[in-house]
Amino acid sequence: MKLLVTGGAGFIGSAVARRAVADGHQVVNLDALTYAACLDNVAEVAGNPNYTFLEADIRDRAAMDRALADHAPDAVMHLAAESHVDRSIDGPGAFIETNVTGTYTLLEAAREYWEGQGRADSFRFHHISTDEVYGSLGPTGQFTEETPYDPRSPYVDLITFVADRPGHDARYAIDPTRIREELNWRPSVSVEEGLEKTVQWYLDNESWWRALQNRDGVGKRLGVKA
Ligand SMILES: NC(=O)c1ccc[n+]([C@@H]2O[C@H](COP(=O)([O-])OP(=O)(O)OC[C@H]3O[C@@H](n4cnc5c(N)ncnc54)[C@H](O)[C@@H]3O)[C@@H](O)[C@H]2O)c1
Repeated sequence: MKLLVTGGAGFIGSAVARRAVADGHQVVNLDALTYAACLDNVAEVAGNPNYTFLEADIRDRAAMDRALADHAPDAVMHLAAESHVDRSIDGPGAFIETNVTGTYTLLEAAREYWEGQGRADSFRFHHISTDEVYGSLGPTGQFTEETPYDPRSPYVDLITFVADRPGHDARYAIDPTRIREELNWRPSVSVEEGLEKTVQWYLDNESWWRALQNRDGVGKRLGVKA
């Protein structure tokens, strides 16, 4: 399968790109290389004949039309986003431009491409979003596919109690029943094992995170201007 992965130099997109190439798919990684991008994350697939990198901005309609026409993907996996919640408080403009206008621009380009290709049933546009669109949970409960969107004004309920995370809601939890039953998804590691592996990865890869420390905003308290 040929996948157009947007945001493939980011945290999750790069993992998607690596995994898809490892599984034998062709990947076109489209990324604008913002402060959040790290091409080191895709270095292991950079020389693979099934992998192509394309520097482009999802807000640029002509560039999206070209990318779709040139690479003719079977599916779009859209992960390009402004994703740092605290930054959204200090500077919401970039979030609206990329996450709203950019997504709309890419959707329109994909729709026109899909129509031009004869509306293939198999074509997919997969938008990776976040559970934060569902708002904030109390001490119990879980979000499901039926939960209505309920995005919050970021710092309304937590700023007094958790000063280091001003833009975050109290609690998120997803009910994974549907993905378990319909796609047979299972977590491959427990939370405890995952946390241990994550800490160990950072300990073993100091050069990776040291190189990111001079970037704008890294290590600074963000999201407290308002
Ligand atoms: N990281 C998480 O824990 C998490 C959890 C839930 C959901 N998500 C969602 O997954 C998606 C990806 O998150 P992530 O953590 O990989 O983000 P990230 O910030 O690490 O990466 C985003 C990538 O998108 C690129 N990008 C930003 N604006 C762009 C634009 N206008 N055009 C093209 N590329 C652009 C950046 O250069 C970067 O490489 C987001 O929608 C996010 O909300 C992330």
